[in-house]
This record gives sequence, C-alpha cells and structure tokens, in this order.
Amino acid sequence: MQDWKSYQEANQERFLNELLDLLRIPSISADSKYSGDVKKCAEQVKLRLQEAGADHVEVCATAGHPIVYGEKLIDSKLPTVLVYGHYDVQPADPIDLWHSPPFEPVIKDGKIYARGSADDKGQFYMHVKAFETMMATNTLCCNIKFMIEGEEEVGSVNLGKFLEDNKEKLKADVVLVSDTSMISMENPSLEAGLRGLAYMEVEVVGPNKDLHSGVYGGAVANPATILAKLIASLHDENNHITIPGFYDEVLELSAEERAAMAKTPFDLEEYKRELGINDVWGEAGYSTIERTGIRPTLEVNGIWSGYTGEGAKTVLPSKANAKISMRLVPNQKSKVIAQLFQKHFESIAPKSVVVKVTEHHGGEPVVTPTDSKAYKAAHQAIETTFGKAPIPTRGGGSIPIIALFERVLGLKTVLMGFGLDTDALHSPNEHYHLKNYYKGIETIPYFYKYFAQ
Ligand code: BES
Ligand code: MN
Ligand code: MN
Repeated sequence: MQDWKSYQEANQERFLNELLDLLRIPSISADSKYSGDVKKCAEQVKLRLQEAGADHVEVCATAGHPIVYGEKLIDSKLPTVLVYGHYDVQPADPIDLWHSPPFEPVIKDGKIYARGSADDKGQFYMHVKAFETMMATNTLCCNIKFMIEGEEEVGSVNLGKFLEDNKEKLKADVVLVSDTSMISMENPSLEAGLRGLAYMEVEVVGPNKDLHSGVYGGAVANPATILAKLIASLHDENNHITIPGFYDEVLELSAEERAAMAKTPFDLEEYKRELGINDVWGEAGYSTIERTGIRPTLEVNGIWSGYTGEGAKTVLPSKANAKISMRLVPNQKSKVIAQLFQKHFESIAPKSVVVKVTEHHGGEPVVTPTDSKAYKAAHQAIETTFGKAPIPTRGGGSIPIIALFERVLGLKTVLMGFGLDTDALHSPNEHYHLKNYYKGIETIPYFYKYFAQ
C-alpha cells in the first residue's frame, strides 16, 4: 500500500525518537529499586497509545508492576486482534561490559544499542507505530486491543489473574506477539513454538559455619565440591539429562518433521565464530537447531559458594548454591518436571550434606498452529514485504503467558518476531537493527489486511 509506505517514510525519524525515549527509562522489573521507572514507562506507553489513536487507554494496577491496556474497536463484525508485548526489561549487568550506557541508546552501524531495544520495547513499539499508520491513513480493518505488561522478565506472575479477571474485555480472535526472533533478514521465519521453563534453586549445606580449610579440609564434606559433583551428574556422557522420568512426556518429532527442520538455513561455522567457541555441545543424536528448538535442556544459570573476593582465603564454605533451569518441550509439564528435579536432587545428595530445593517461576511449552487464518496472514504479510516466504521455526526461549492465552482465553497466538538471535538479548550491548524495526512497522499492517480478508 502506497499510503502506508509514504506515511511511514515521512514519520521515520519520529518513530525512532519515540522508541529511544522509551529505551531511556530503566524499566527493570526484577529490581524493586526501579519500580518507579517501571511505572513511568507504563505511563509513557499509555501516552503513546493514546497519541496513536487508541481509546480507553489505562494503566492497570496489579499486585506487581502495571499492565497497559488500550483498544480501538471499530466494528463488532470485524475480527479482533489482541497485541501482547512487554515494556519491562532484564537487569543491565554486567554493566562494565557495555560499550555505551544501557539506558542511553546510541545508534551505531545501523543498530540501536540499549537494554530492551530488541526485547521487547523495540518490538512491541512497532505495533504501536503500525497501528498509528493504519489510523492516520484510515485503513484500520480489524479491531485492536493492546495489552503491554511490565512483568514478563520476572515470569508474568500477575498476568494470569488479569486474564481471569478480564475475560470479556480481552475477547479476541487471535493474539499477535513480536517478542521472538527470525533467522535473518534474508531468511525470514515465523516461530511456531516456544519452550517451557522450570526454574529451580538449590542449596547444599555442610558444616554449621565456614571452616579453616587446612584444619577441617579432607575430613568434612565441602558443599561447593558436592554441589559441583551433583550438578555434573545431571548430564550423562551423551549429554542426556539423568533425572528419572524427565523425558517421559517428550513428544518425539517424526522423521518427516525432522527432515523439514534440517532444511532450516543454518551455518554452524558462523554460529561458532559469532560466539567465540571452538565447538558446540549438546545432546547426542540431535543437531544444534534441534537442541535449541525441540529438545529439553538443563542449564546452570548461577552458582556461588565460598570466598570470591580479592586475593586468597583458605576457607571450607558452609554452603553452596545454584540456580538451575530446565527448558521444556511438548508435552512436558513445568510442575511435574520441577517435582522430578526436586526428588532426584534430594535423592543423590550424600549424607554428609543437607540439600534444599526450591522452585521459582515456570511456564508451559507451546506449539502454535501453522494452518490457521492468522498464521497464514502473518506468512503472507512477511512474504509481501520481505519478498520471501517465511520458514516456520521453533524458538528456544520462553514466554510463559502464551500457554495461558490458550487456557484462560481460548486464544491461539501468532509469534511474528523481527529480532535476531544475535541481538544479545539479556546480554551486554543488546541491540536491535534499525532495518528490522522499520521492516516490522511496514509488515504489521499487512497482517491486518490479510487477516480481515
Ligand atoms: N522475548 C523473550 C523470549 C524469547 C527470546 C523467545 C528469543 C524466543 C526467542 C522473553 O522476554 C524472555 O526472555 N523470556 C524468558 C522467560 C521469562 C520467564 C524470564 C526466557 O526465555 O528466559
Ligand atoms: Mn521478551
Ligand atoms: Mn527477555
């Protein structure tokens, strides 16, 4: 559509500046020091939705961070799209490794560098600008509801209740989300599934205080050593996870499905170079794409014990701790896996220590249909603006609320992400390519056009 293109070109600079303003607000949901900034960010999202033309825009309080809701209902006979995104971001640490301050966005080599640029401010904001484009050119052809939350990065713990309490208000035909990645601009793709998550914390306790490692070492179990052994035992020599029952519910893909996946463009040498590793690692019998898409995993996310300050201290620590998360695939259940983990971890601990296992947030895996009207609309939209049909892929990350959209609202989701896996999400120097930002804004109106047809 010529109208859309010329409107977007004329407003290109403002579309960028508004995003940069959002990125300047450190809306870190995990750290209560920033709750004022999270609130401020919600207010700014509200304002931008209003300016774009949404009605009844509100900042809805929750037991945690607020949810911004807004809508444009033009005709009850037209389909309704619920746009979901998140304005909260991950903590920026380690700060020292950023080349520029995480909340002072800079544009370099065609990329916007800032925490949240790709995950998810730059991505959900494309929807606000696509909506503005349709409003300004009088071409909106669906009803739209926006639900932009502030707790995705901490497990969306209060959003489930919001869905339960607002079933009527959130009624729609489909949920549209841009919070995932594509293979590349040359090989656009649509994620047709996400992994679930079970997140655990373990504590190994030995003696009732830190001890002199010369006086007691060798005679008393060192919790750090024991924890390292326990963690190491969670994978066998083929890098299969050793927790009994862990794979029981895993849906194995058919030979045809695996053959289709093997056609996904992927350059292993480039992958290794990009990450600075000499070799990849993972479950025997599966490719890298399978290991991150259709197979469950177990990763240590954090580990601490003993003396880690400057210099040396000869100490036998009293405790050792780790945060361990498992990515899940259909049909594994987060709660079941958490229980299996707990039972196993407790059972393998030697008598010389006491282990404590606790569970953090979790989420269920999802597979989105590729034969729905909404998926086809997204497919066609990407084909229109990229000049190439998108490949269906399976995302390695998790968005726990997607499973609840289906369970609570009965809604399927389309994951139309425009980020790249190399955008350094959650890492120092997170960035989002300007090209992807503008391409997303250009593509989204076509989704509505085809979905309404
Ligand atoms: N947007 C990501 C999820 C994602 C990233 C999916 C890339 C597919 C490709 C989301 O913000 C995220 O980081 N989710 C967390 C889970 C959450 C409970 C903290 C994750 O995947 O670790
Ligand atoms: Mn995200
Ligand atoms: Mn994230």
